[in-house]
Amino acid sequence: MQTKTSTDFSTIVKARRSVRVYDQNHAFDHSSVERALKLAILAPNSSNMQLWEFHRIKTEEKRKELARCCLGQSAARTASEMVVFVTRHDKWKKRAAFNLDLVKKAYDNAPNEKKARQAVSYYQKLIPMFYRRDWTGLSFLLKKLAVFLIGIKKPMIREVSAAHQKVVMHKSAALAAMTFMYAMKAEGYDTCPMEGFDSKRIKKMLKLPKGTEINMVVSCGKGLPEGIYSERVRLPFEEVVKEEK
Ligand SMILES: Cc1cc2nc3c(=O)[nH]c(=O)nc-3n(C[C@H](O)[C@H](O)[C@H](O)COP(=O)(O)O)c2cc1C
Repeated sequence: MQTKTSTDFSTIVKARRSVRVYDQNHAFDHSSVERALKLAILAPNSSNMQLWEFHRIKTEEKRKELARCCLGQSAARTASEMVVFVTRHDKWKKRAAFNLDLVKKAYDNAPNEKKARQAVSYYQKLIPMFYRRDWTGLSFLLKKLAVFLIGIKKPMIREVSAAHQKVVMHKSAALAAMTFMYAMKAEGYDTCPMEGFDSKRIKKMLKLPKGTEINMVVSCGKGLPEGIYSERVRLPFEEVVKEEK
């Protein structure tokens, strides 16, 4: 049985398209972006580390600069606002401390609870082990060895390299971007996710430190019919959805 909520959600999902031309004469309501971002930060994210940041590009001057970084794509050139989704590995210690603080409070209230003890150990030991990087590569070798040894007896995460850290952060940032795009559609606006950009120039424009990465740029605005370039086509459901028997 379909509930009203699920019907509303499927309407939004079906109505969202990547729109490449926006109405530049439309009086865009920038507060819609704030509301949508407030929903985006509720997206699931790895270990609640929230190694993400969302940079709003609103002024005409900055939008023009970012559109140039987005290789002059019309989805960027005609946008009323753009949001740059950024991953922030450099913040892992701060975000681990934020979580540790929370779980320690829970632990102080119930020191005998196994779950509370495990949560403290998770943010105190496991998370630093995963996110720590060093230029010699030694910590990676130690991690690989630890994972191998633990993995002999029980299921264990195998992906522990710097590249895997990036994958983890980008997954979470992309989920926030998706939540944002649906929220914008619910606000009556259109979006286009973009990965066609010069990340080096965007990082310079946003004055981002080393170790940060651009996940996606999402342009927003009131879409024009010509902004939808083609019919939406997807592979047959059976080709991509597999039921394990
Ligand atoms: C990670 C990602 C990067 C994308 N980059 C671009 C881009 O740089 N420029 C663009 O016009 N569309 C871009 N798109 C939009 C896709 O082309 C679009 O989602 C796809 O064709 C399906 O169409 P739909 O979103 O309308 O369903 C991107 C989409 C994703 C998910």
